[in-house]
Amino acid sequence: MTTTLPDRGTPMALGNSLIAQDWEALTFKVHRSAYREPAVFARERDRIWNHSWLYLGHETEIPEPGDFKTRTLGGRPLIFVRDSAGTVQVYLNACPHRGTILCRETEGRTKLFQCFYHAWTFRNSGELASLPDGSAYPPGSDFVDSLALRRVPRLGIHEGFVFISFDPGVPELLDHLGAAADYISMTASIGPQGMTTLPGVQKYSVRGNWKLAVENAMDGYHFAPTHNTFVGYLRETGFAVTDEDQYAYDLGDGHGLLILTGHNGRIGMIWEPRFGEPERERTEAKRAEMSARLGAARAARVADASRILYVFPNLLLFDLEALTIRQLEPVDAGVTDVRAWQFVESGEPDSVRALRLKTMASFVGPGGLATPDDIEAYEAVQRGVQATAGLDGGLDWSDMSRGMADEAAGRQGRSIDEGAMRSFWRHWSRVVGEVPGVPGGGGTEGGQV
Ligand code: FES
Ligand SMILES: [Fe+2]
Repeated sequence: MTTTLPDRGTPMALGNSLIAQDWEALTFKVHRSAYREPAVFARERDRIWNHSWLYLGHETEIPEPGDFKTRTLGGRPLIFVRDSAGTVQVYLNACPHRGTILCRETEGRTKLFQCFYHAWTFRNSGELASLPDGSAYPPGSDFVDSLALRRVPRLGIHEGFVFISFDPGVPELLDHLGAAADYISMTASIGPQGMTTLPGVQKYSVRGNWKLAVENAMDGYHFAPTHNTFVGYLRETGFAVTDEDQYAYDLGDGHGLLILTGHNGRIGMIWEPRFGEPERERTEAKRAEMSARLGAARAARVADASRILYVFPNLLLFDLEALTIRQLEPVDAGVTDVRAWQFVESGEPDSVRALRLKTMASFVGPGGLATPDDIEAYEAVQRGVQATAGLDGGLDWSDMSRGMADEAAGRQGRSIDEGAMRSFWRHWSRVVGEVPGVPGGGGTEGGQV
């Protein structure tokens, strides 16, 4: 494992004066306007969400021809569908006629999408199938062809994880994913018969800026104090939790990773008492199977440590005691919609599936012992940063300096430091650039992108 060395540039070289990084004083601060200001949000929509790869969903959510889901990314409604030939398609969910939302269901199976407004009808492969009184339109196929559903400009799939971009000029998906791609592959290789999402999605809306959700996921520092109920529960079941031997990695381009060897058990990979005795035997057998299939070294890499992977800007992959895919969709500066899916081994026994769901629900589920704490934490930040809005004297900055000395010395960052947050913010600042007119945000147009 190698880490990307920190950028030793000045704050301006980071592209955005909402970030104050001082390698002499070993401090790193983020101006709180970044969480609050509509102008920052508008700039992010433009610079990030309109020009990056975005995680849309997993192929296994639409397993059969005609299966579709609708969801919104970067504020744009989309249709995610497997066409009748079996190909994954992603359309802008706006009727080519006059822009009406074409599909108003959240999910289903169909060969045709019909717009309710004037009844134009489209195949799931995108072509216009029929429209009332076609004789009133110009003759010839060119006109009809021009009325096909609009595809998103770019679509890429890695290990079944479907990403899209609204910018036709983005680099190839694997170039964007970089070092993060292999961590997705590692999680995707856990099951001998592959992996699948379970039907159903956990959806909730958080009254907090989306970047607070990223910070929270990359922040091992909060684990023991915020989740003390969960830590106490684990101790009662006989499992000790430690902050030792847990590290944070900058995977480049805003992607981050925590590797948590002392976190807790992993279903089928690291047994712990709360999983019960039958699971202990199965875990031994499964580890042997993984070693035979992946090779001992790779199997150990996949199985031995829990991981939280963040793929900039909107994907979190929790490869912990259970597996959760989480997607962030910023709604405005103070509101974020979250979707989460359970990721499981295809073909695993029902008893294991039940254990997995129970375990997930106990921790990262929306009613578990972790996620409600986390949501309360970042909603509390969003409320709290109002307190210092517009005040001078350095009051309106949040501190993320923990572990800067180790970072400056080139030592591996710990998960309980704030290095993973700093690498996220450095990338963010380069992409977003200066935001004119924002308090604390510098003056002129033309920050580096
Ligand atoms: S807007 Fe869809 S058919 Fe007219
Ligand atoms: Fe947490």
